[in-house]
Amino acid sequence: MKTEVMHVLQQFSPIPLNINMLEQPAHTHMGDLALPCFPFAKNLKKSPVMIADEIADAIRHPLIHKAEAVNGYVNIFLNRSQITSSLLDRIREQTKSYGSSDVGNNGVGTIDMSSPNIAKPFSMGHLRSTVIGNSISLLLEKNGYKTVKINYIGDWGTQFGKLLTAYRKWGNEQEVRTNPIQTLLKLYIQFHEDAEQDEALNDEGRAAFKALEDGDTEALALWDWFKSESLKEFQRIYDLLGVKFDSYNGEAYYNDKMEPIVDLLNEKGLLKESDGALVVELGDKMPPCLIKKSDGATLYATRDLTAAIDRKKTYDFEKSIYVVGNEQSLHFTQFKKVLEKMSYEWAQDIEHVPFGLILKDGKKMSTRKGKIVLLEEVLKDAISLAQSTIEEKNPNLENKIEIAEAIGVGAIIFSDLKQHRKHDIEFDLETMLQTEGETGPYVQYTFARANSVLRKAGETNSYTVDEVNDFEWKIVKELEQFPEIIQQSAKELDPSIIAKYAVNLAQAFNSFYANVHVLTDSKNKPYRIALITSTTIVLKEALRLLGMKAPEKM
Ligand code: ARG
Repeated sequence: MKTEVMHVLQQFSPIPLNINMLEQPAHTHMGDLALPCFPFAKNLKKSPVMIADEIADAIRHPLIHKAEAVNGYVNIFLNRSQITSSLLDRIREQTKSYGSSDVGNNGVGTIDMSSPNIAKPFSMGHLRSTVIGNSISLLLEKNGYKTVKINYIGDWGTQFGKLLTAYRKWGNEQEVRTNPIQTLLKLYIQFHEDAEQDEALNDEGRAAFKALEDGDTEALALWDWFKSESLKEFQRIYDLLGVKFDSYNGEAYYNDKMEPIVDLLNEKGLLKESDGALVVELGDKMPPCLIKKSDGATLYATRDLTAAIDRKKTYDFEKSIYVVGNEQSLHFTQFKKVLEKMSYEWAQDIEHVPFGLILKDGKKMSTRKGKIVLLEEVLKDAISLAQSTIEEKNPNLENKIEIAEAIGVGAIIFSDLKQHRKHDIEFDLETMLQTEGETGPYVQYTFARANSVLRKAGETNSYTVDEVNDFEWKIVKELEQFPEIIQQSAKELDPSIIAKYAVNLAQAFNSFYANVHVLTDSKNKPYRIALITSTTIVLKEALRLLGMKAPEKM
């Protein structure tokens, strides 16, 4: 809208305009947009008041209802009826593709996301990566990209040697079967405690990993079993969150693919020996990137380098996104730098999308030692809280369980996405499940409320827009912004822009709902139904882009 208005104003302005010159007046009685004329005074050798007067007098255009000159500003009042009517037509015609764009031009974006470590609990950090990655993927698709969601499972590394050793010493098959992750975690912790006293245990662990790397069948079979038990547990979380992946190629997948990459680094003269280990030096500002330990074992970075090169070959991506916590920033800077040194131009298409911690009472929610927070339980708690709200407010609701899941899970997703991902977020189930304030349930309830009005009112096909009151206009202005919001949030890989938008639209709708009698005013009813229908289309799409469901009844 702003751009269109700017083009209109240009026809009446003696000075070339740009979009940033247009301001948003603080109050609606001052119009929808304002052009301050102070910057033009010097050039035109006229007072801003005079310039504003002249521009305001000259403006004549169907988009603009009136232009008023006030103290050097041109205040623009848009033609509400016309804008509203064409916007509502557009939204109701395009429905869920309203706001879609093809800027991505079918280019591929790979998204490395979730990526939990097997035999360890699914942490809050992995939850964030899953939820943020999923929304980014939906946003990119909405903008015409093809996406590949990759769950780069942490299933390789020296810790698995330790785990195998611990299992052989103290493990019990049945226990692992009934409660895999907790049991394996306990074994791992016991290993560390014992290893503090007994250095030989560490050697055993290292040897066990070496055997695993060399393809020892018994070791591989155990590892494979731990992995499938862990994945089964993770799958339950993904099912609850409604997230699917296109690839589960994790670290182990690259075990037999690293050697050629190490050779390549060597051929390019990038490998240096340092205390028996092989590293790529990255200048004075960064520690070197460790490629091989002195015992020949590969590292996290070796696998990530190999995976990146493999992904480029497999998917020919235009963007390669890694949704991983802030604390791994150095790793990503280093490994990107190594790819640059290998002269891969596409290294610049790699982007680490970092995020902050989830805090509980200001402290990191930890999955260590005694205080393991089991994510599945957190999700279930959220669902049962949502369930009790339903029992209290709407006990006769159909599909209560399904709806409670949509609300409980949605509340967690929304509270994660509503702030910029780089911030740490405080985790508080009670707050995030409230139906007032900036919460997921608030937006979902608004959507359900709008649907209930529509059910009562019946469909409408033809309507004319005679007059648009301030409450309605506020909604229209929000709806009109949606395409821009989507593009911006995809460009910045920032779902919080959509989450905030959804709250604003819900607020605009709720104040309209509280102040305007939709059903009793028969003259305006058809137009208002179109307005409400459009609101539901956009709210539902905004929620979908966040990875949330939008129940029609709550
Ligand atoms: N498994 C790792 C962790 O839990 C995250 C992996 C992130 N992705 C990657 N390509 N390094 O810390």
